[in-house]
Amino acid sequence: MTHNEFVIENYNKWIDKNPGIGIMGYGSEQSQDIRFGTLFKAGDMAGKTILDVGCGRGDFAAKLVRSGVKYKRYLGIDIVPQMIDIAKKANSSENVEFRVLDILACSEKLSFDYVIMCGPLNLRTPHTEETAKKLIRKAYEIAKIGVAFNMTSILGDEDKKTDHTYYFDPFDVLRFCAGMTRNLWFDHTYLPHDFTVFMYRKGEYEL
Ligand SMILES: C[S@@+](CC[C@H](N)C(=O)[O-])C[C@H]1O[C@@H](n2cnc3c(N)ncnc32)[C@H](O)[C@@H]1O
Repeated sequence: MTHNEFVIENYNKWIDKNPGIGIMGYGSEQSQDIRFGTLFKAGDMAGKTILDVGCGRGDFAAKLVRSGVKYKRYLGIDIVPQMIDIAKKANSSENVEFRVLDILACSEKLSFDYVIMCGPLNLRTPHTEETAKKLIRKAYEIAKIGVAFNMTSILGDEDKKTDHTYYFDPFDVLRFCAGMTRNLWFDHTYLPHDFTVFMYRKGEYEL
């Protein structure tokens, strides 16, 4: 089974069995909101284009609208068609679009100011680590300003860890990202089992 086949099968199962936020494997809306709040710190998204990789129900788009952020364009993509159907029904705001798309298999040249990834890297499959690296690299190629992504952390409490989740070593992830840009920001303060990285385009801050 490929990584994508595993992801699609897993999320379809959650969609069929769980209500609300549970279809995305989240424990609570609060933890999702805390992650979104951290991603918002990536920069002012007003007037900017945003690609949301692994958009799920499109809740990040809804959060942007609720928060009054006047983004220029938002595209939410996901590899699970059922998720995109749900996202389309739940979001009808201006300049918001949803598509079934895999950025690793896409021949189209994508270019967005910000690429965000909230949660698509965390499901444990035999290929999670290599797929996550490919997605981060691709997201960085697409981003004109930067990439903001979160991951579940090995530093979380052992008794709260689940079998279906992949836990990343934040130090390894940062080392990997630093191979692309040293213009990095890291936050492991907002939840015990999660961290966020912002990767800005090389040279953004250099004089
Ligand atoms: C934990 S959910 C989070 C959804 C949304 N970002 C949020 O925070 O509400 C992860 C989502 O990523 C999607 N996903 C997983 N791997 C992906 C990939 N390689 N490309 C695009 N979407 C992916 C899943 O289908 C799922 O909808």
